[in-house]
Amino acid sequence: MDKAQKNSRYERVYAQIAGLLDKTPFRISRMATVTAILHHKFDYFFWTGFYLLEEGELLVGPYQGSVACQVLAYKKGVCWAAIQAAKTVVVEDVNKFPDHISCDSRSKSEIVVPLKNSASEVVAVLDIDSKDLNSFDETDALWLEKIVALI
Ligand code: SME
Repeated sequence: MDKAQKNSRYERVYAQIAGLLDKTPFRISRMATVTAILHHKFDYFFWTGFYLLEEGELLVGPYQGSVACQVLAYKKGVCWAAIQAAKTVVVEDVNKFPDHISCDSRSKSEIVVPLKNSASEVVAVLDIDSKDLNSFDETDALWLEKIVALI
């Protein structure tokens, strides 16, 4: 998928998600909807889901894909890195990321986008894995940040 195709796919998906997130303010339901749509609209999304920051632990939330780790080791891996930086992290090759947590050895690259509440505190992350190296770029980061902000 080239950059222009990716952009127009995200444009349509963003509009679809925005149109569906008016049924309930309940965050978990909104995450589940976002996860289901994203996972089925992008061929390279091998695992798509949320980790929730609950009392200092990162616990798995709504997801689609293979069975994932329920709890992520404290302050290790890409999800914790995104939380600590409060910024999106794109990893071209997960095997080169220090302390990367592998829930499925088929995952090769990854993007993690923090979800902030109205007080700008990170409360969860959207984590998407691909079976290919270098699947995610600034187009994914830009659109996924916009989509996460809808939640
Ligand atoms: N790779 C993540 C763990 C979650 S799985 O990708 C589903 C990490 O290093 O935080």
